[in-house]
Amino acid sequence: MVTARAPATSANLGSGYDTFGVALERPADTVTVERASETSIDVTGAGAQYIPEDPDGNTVGAVAEALEAPAHISIDKGVRPASGLGSSAASAAAAALALNELYDRGHTPKELVSVAAKGEAVVSGTAHADNVAPSLLGGFTIIRGDDVTRVDADVSLVACLPEVAVSTRDAREVVPESLSMADHVETVGNAATLTAGMCRSDPTLVGEGMDDPVVTPARAELITGYHAVRDAAFDTGATGVTVSGAGPSLLAVCYPEKRRAVAGAMVEAFADAGVGARAYQTRVG
Ligand code: HSE
Repeated sequence: MVTARAPATSANLGSGYDTFGVALERPADTVTVERASETSIDVTGAGAQYIPEDPDGNTVGAVAEALEAPAHISIDKGVRPASGLGSSAASAAAAALALNELYDRGHTPKELVSVAAKGEAVVSGTAHADNVAPSLLGGFTIIRGDDVTRVDADVSLVACLPEVAVSTRDAREVVPESLSMADHVETVGNAATLTAGMCRSDPTLVGEGMDDPVVTPARAELITGYHAVRDAAFDTGATGVTVSGAGPSLLAVCYPEKRRAVAGAMVEAFADAGVGARAYQTRVG
């Protein structure tokens, strides 16, 4: 029997759609695997009732198949599904780590990124790796084709999760198919600024580099209270705010001493919009 833990993540960071991701110090999923002749799955924890236990419909089923590693897989969810915090990726990453060890496959965590991404395809229709990469490797990650670049960063974050669900599949459908050259230039400038900010662990550069004129405005429409929560975070000291992954969570960047105030203001602004929410005061993990 092998147990592995993999953390929640926040993908995109505004300007890095399907490219950037960060591991969060918390929450996390825990997966325990035992050898079996056929794969079976049970799920407990946050939002377990919404997760299919059929291996063909579950992210970890695809991982077991990719590694040719049939097992009984127990998933303890710390990351609620449809949250924008890489819930399916955390399960896929933990399962990939655990099955790799159980069957002595000898893959490095970096080699497991493409394996765990196959699990993402089951949930969202696309094998995007911007959540599984930071969940497996930690830190700030950049996806480029099949390659991953990882950077250590120490940046304070608030991830605010409202009590509504947005499916990644739906949120991908509202993303525009093309963008203007002006939006392209702005996005590249922001993404490069954010990357420099991560390399320097500088919350001001990271926050400013989160601005995104293309994907985030389209997705904001799916999140009740988005504009008020964003304003509340900026008013209390956030240096940047964006949709976390496909939403509905919002991610704020700030200096460590502002984190508590930003978290409180975001929860309160969601409440004013009639939406219950909880905030994780966290950092790049
Ligand atoms: N990059 C993906 C998206 C992340 O934005 O659809 C989903 O968590």
